[in-house]
Amino acid sequence: MSGVQSMVGSAGPQAARIESLWWLFFWVCTVVFVLVIIALVVAVYRSRRREGDRLDPLLDPPRDRERRMMRTVGGATAVSAVILIGLLIASVSTGRAVLSLPPPDALSIDVVGHQWWWEIQYNDPVPSRSFRTANEIHIPVGRPVRIKTRSADVIHSFWVPNLHGKRDLIPGHPSETWLQADRPGVFRGQCAEFCGHQHAKMALVVVAEPPEEFEVWRAFQLRTAPPPTRPLLRRGQEVFLALPCPTCHTIAGTPAGGKTAPDLTHLASRRTLAAGTLPNNRGHLAGWILDPQTAKPGNKMPAVALESGDLQALLAYLESLR
Ligand code: CUA
Repeated sequence: MSGVQSMVGSAGPQAARIESLWWLFFWVCTVVFVLVIIALVVAVYRSRRREGDRLDPLLDPPRDRERRMMRTVGGATAVSAVILIGLLIASVSTGRAVLSLPPPDALSIDVVGHQWWWEIQYNDPVPSRSFRTANEIHIPVGRPVRIKTRSADVIHSFWVPNLHGKRDLIPGHPSETWLQADRPGVFRGQCAEFCGHQHAKMALVVVAEPPEEFEVWRAFQLRTAPPPTRPLLRRGQEVFLALPCPTCHTIAGTPAGGKTAPDLTHLASRRTLAAGTLPNNRGHLAGWILDPQTAKPGNKMPAVALESGDLQALLAYLESLR
């Protein structure tokens, strides 16, 4: 599918802090592990050499050896405590840094978790500049983005590892966080809290792009779907409106205004179908419409029986929604 997903490839300040903490833990724990193994090997080797001794050195050690053992164990305990306190301080300070409030000039995006897809709302004080999309967030590079999260049903968790840590979406408890991309890229995210049968197929992508490209994308998303011009597209729209599709889906500029499923006004501009489950191309779109329960069992999309002419017209219409 599209996009990288890695927490050790940070593309923004929040993820960079988390990644630094991760590497600190990794190296400290690696060094401690190696030292412990070396000490163990040395101890085993030495006790072998002492096997000839008459007395058990652990149960009945000579005075000087006992003192040395006490010093070693005491020293190792003190070093362990210092290391653990150091890691605790690093962890708490990283936590405080990544939980800071978003800067006031941040772009604001609402993310709503659904079983099993992401509703994305770009809200603007001017209502005509607001729009909805699904499973694909575009952000301008270099600008902080406030992510306001909420859930429509159960607990989900918003996680785009290259940009930030996890943020739980708890029903009835709207929350917010912020992130920023410092370089362009397509970053894959994943629901990180088990939320039912298709939890694993609840992905999204964040497309970080230069501000000019972001503005072009935003201007495009604000447009309503153009009226179909060719007869095939007109037939496709008729098929769409005659089926149960408009009950759940919106296509701005048409009577379809359902809000319980992804907004399809610019479906063809998106990279994936079904929340990162399938690449967005004609074959998968056809398969998804005819039999959505095979690709993603348990999702709320019903199968639609269509004769082939209607299907081809519907596909052509949906592919025209750029
Ligand atoms: Cu949504 Cu797991």
